[in-house]
Amino acid sequence: MPYVFRSRKPLMRTGIAVSIAVLALVAGTAAGAPNARRAVNPSITSKAWGSAHGQPVRLYTLESGHGMTVRITNYGGVVQSIYVPGRGGHVANVALGFSKLSDYVNDFENQPWPASGGSGDTYFGAIIGRYANRIANGEFTLNGTTYHLPQNNGPNTLHGGPLSYNTKVWTATPQSGKGFVALKLTYTDPDGYNGFPGAVANTVVYKLTPDNALRIHYTATTTKPTVVNFTNHTYFNLAGEGSGNVFAQTLQINSNTFTPVNANLIPTGFEPVAGTPFDFRRAKPIGRDIRRANMREGDQLVIAHGYDHNWVIKGHSLRLAAVAEDPASGRVLRTYSTEPGLQVYTGNFLVGDLVGTSGRTYRQGDAFTLETQHYPDSPHHIGEPGWPSVVLNPGQTFNSTTIFKFGVA
Ligand code: BGC
Repeated sequence: MPYVFRSRKPLMRTGIAVSIAVLALVAGTAAGAPNARRAVNPSITSKAWGSAHGQPVRLYTLESGHGMTVRITNYGGVVQSIYVPGRGGHVANVALGFSKLSDYVNDFENQPWPASGGSGDTYFGAIIGRYANRIANGEFTLNGTTYHLPQNNGPNTLHGGPLSYNTKVWTATPQSGKGFVALKLTYTDPDGYNGFPGAVANTVVYKLTPDNALRIHYTATTTKPTVVNFTNHTYFNLAGEGSGNVFAQTLQINSNTFTPVNANLIPTGFEPVAGTPFDFRRAKPIGRDIRRANMREGDQLVIAHGYDHNWVIKGHSLRLAAVAEDPASGRVLRTYSTEPGLQVYTGNFLVGDLVGTSGRTYRQGDAFTLETQHYPDSPHHIGEPGWPSVVLNPGQTFNSTTIFKFGVA
């Protein structure tokens, strides 16, 4: 155990506090099963977790001190697990993931790219960049120059193209301050990598606070004009990963409008959610309308094999985007974001040999993602009204915050 950071350093000076910290770690982290009852200051610890591309990888454990434990690896910035209490203090891991680094490397780096539809890669928990979601036809034009990108999702470029941010070993720095612990991750995406112009220097800070909120802050700068869109690709199942499908869990989305898609899952414009299965203005079970016929453009839920769509979040700046709840356990997840859009994906392409953290196989519908981001394929709508800009120029700093805050109903 190379270091233990506590948010209130003076406490560390007393032998009592050190003993409490050690006991907490023995009871919680070290045993693998976090304990909901402790109420101590947030902490961050880490351990070696193998290597990727010849670089050492670590697994960091962040504890809120109020029953929430998040494990994050600097491979892909992956959120490997999120343990949170439910009613009666029952703790479950609500994030899909793998127990070993080699499973991530195999899933993220060794899958064949499918000819159409979803990705061969789950992107479980990962940081996605430099352009999250799809860019149609693997090309875009910026300032009169057309850039050609690898097509790793039918005709599209998905999640920055092959072997992108989710497969890199990020430089990690644990941090702590009054009332928080954090993991700062940095990575520079080279100029020309996967065809994108400009070297993009990224910082992603995962911060855990005593109110059981995981705050993700993204900043980026570039050396040439480029397009950017970042997200986190955690798959949530509030009843616990591997417990079955999420169709009885409820979702409310702060949105009147979504972007329907064509057969390649590229947005075709904007539609009101009213009267469609995409109406989550009031909380409803995720599965209630997932097989309901809809839309003149083609049945959206057939095209996408479930929900795999972008909602336009009402308002600007940091605001509530969505509330998810598991009525059985009482676990609630409130998502706040500064981003204009939210891609909700119901794990439609979870197929094959996907044995998760606790040894159970994941199947279609076993999770939902809440990917806060700019709208898919925005590089084809630069300058159009209704499409927030994804252009980043030298001298500017991209800034974005998303908060996943857990509670009990
Ligand atoms: C996309 C899905 C894709 C998945 C990859 C999501 O963000 O919208 O279509 O299959 O990522 O796991």
